[in-house]
Amino acid sequence: MEGLMELMNTLQKACTKLPQFGDDGMFMLPTLPSIVAIGGQSSGKSSVIESFVGRDFLPRGSGIATRRPLILQLYKIEQGEEEYAKFHHLPEKRFTDFSLVRKEIQDDTDKITDNSKHISPVPIQLSIYSPNVVNLAMIDLPGLTKVAVEGQPENIAEDIEKLVLSYVEKPNSIILAITPANQDVATSDAIRLARQVDPAGERTFGVLTKLDLMDKGTNALEVLEGKSFRLQHPWVGIVNRSQADINKDVDMLAARRREHEFFATNPDYAHLASKMGSEHLVKLLSGHLENVIKARIPAITTLMNKSIDEAESELDYLGRPVTVDTGAQLYTILELCRAFDRTFTEHLEGGRPGGDR
Ligand code: GDP
Ligand code: NA
Ligand code: MG
Repeated sequence: MEGLMELMNTLQKACTKLPQFGDDGMFMLPTLPSIVAIGGQSSGKSSVIESFVGRDFLPRGSGIATRRPLILQLYKIEQGEEEYAKFHHLPEKRFTDFSLVRKEIQDDTDKITDNSKHISPVPIQLSIYSPNVVNLAMIDLPGLTKVAVEGQPENIAEDIEKLVLSYVEKPNSIILAITPANQDVATSDAIRLARQVDPAGERTFGVLTKLDLMDKGTNALEVLEGKSFRLQHPWVGIVNRSQADINKDVDMLAARRREHEFFATNPDYAHLASKMGSEHLVKLLSGHLENVIKARIPAITTLMNKSIDEAESELDYLGRPVTVDTGAQLYTILELCRAFDRTFTEHLEGGRPGGDR
């Protein structure tokens, strides 16, 4: 199935290179769902997203560290190739030092918000190319808040909520509703908003962070076992790095090991250990994405066949062998369409059930 995801991404990228076949053109593909992280301030949204990437690159910490939506596209590259990041607003620049990525996010946020503490709905678009990621689109959003602090506009809480809603109300979005375990889930703004836009819980994943910070003698089993806040998808418990860890530069791998250990050795959670943690969450989400794509196979195949026919007649018109640039691009896309169609058909015929692996 990974092959399918990659093909879909390649195809989408190839299509966007053809401006004349853009929005209403013949190669308009349904876009893959984006995973949108929502939650209260400092609930751990940015930490969860970073753990998906295996890199430190986001502004994190107390207060509103995230003040603009960050649209993050992850692309898997070959093992051994160099990892890098690119901003949409700096197309010429390749970032291989990820601390500079964080700095650029902060600098561009300050620029757009005139060095105020305000938030801005103008998204930052970042692509990360790495051998250690799966092809996913993720969106990091400013945290939901109740009150404005010094220097913030009075209505900042409503502004953030409106901004968050504008992302999660898209039926195409997958909601990561992030709630810290050391807070009462009944008061979680993430769960409240998720329920508002996805009452059946079909595209909401409940994520419980900060399990390590719960009061001694309490645990989150009621939630994690789906007893108190039932969603269609299972809840996932997470232990991210603490602020002290970040200050000490504890690296991502060490943090993952510790997270594993936390679940495996904790008498309350040991029986759930294989279904907890950041790595499991990534698996769960890619499994869900695969199912979403599979459900769309018939529609996409129809579109592909139509595109192939149209591309063939276009090629006939342009003439073969193709020397014209457009012709060459069309030809590539045609090949991709065929490969895509074949892979889809194989999957349909293989009829392998979807779900988590
Ligand atoms: P965001 O505001 O929701 O994006 O939250 P951040 O990811 O910036 O995290 C806010 C603070 O909480 C940071 O200091 C993190 O180190 C800390 N934090 C996040 N998740 C956890 C966790 O699972 N355990 C602990 N101990 N600290 C966490
Ligand atoms: Na924060
Ligand atoms: Mg954040």
